[in-house]
Amino acid sequence: MPNSTWMNATLLSDRAAALLEVAREARLRAYAPYSHFTVGAALESADGVIVVGCNVENASYGLTICAERSAVSAAIAAGHRELTAIAVAGPDGAMVSPCGACRQVLAEFNPSMTVIYTTPDGPVSTTAAELLPHSFGPFV
Ligand code: THU
Repeated sequence: MPNSTWMNATLLSDRAAALLEVAREARLRAYAPYSHFTVGAALESADGVIVVGCNVENASYGLTICAERSAVSAAIAAGHRELTAIAVAGPDGAMVSPCGACRQVLAEFNPSMTVIYTTPDGPVSTTAAELLPHSFGPFV
């Protein structure tokens, strides 16, 4: 029965809804010729800057980078390390919660980071730590 917290759609704040909208725009630039499953991400830093990412696939499938890790790499390269929230948008009606690898990467920068993702029932808001319990992390 889908009654656990993570399955319940969340009523998003205006700020979270705006971040999700930016993720949806970033999704339009995804490079996914193999899976045709396009994903966008929008990452907010403590100074209010929003950095986007999208999935970038490769003919050597295993080299694919997810939208979330693409956004984190862009944010770090731009000098933003204090990451407060990420929104992830996939195809309408699809469940697009961050994969295990992305959860570890999000938790590296802030286990308390808000994570907003889409489900068939609507968006969900949770945290990186909630998505990755008992995680490994020296968290320097
Ligand atoms: N993908 C993401 O970009 N983020 C997720 O949270 C889930 C999966 C991508 C990877 C691949 O390009 C495609 O979606 C299908 O797995």
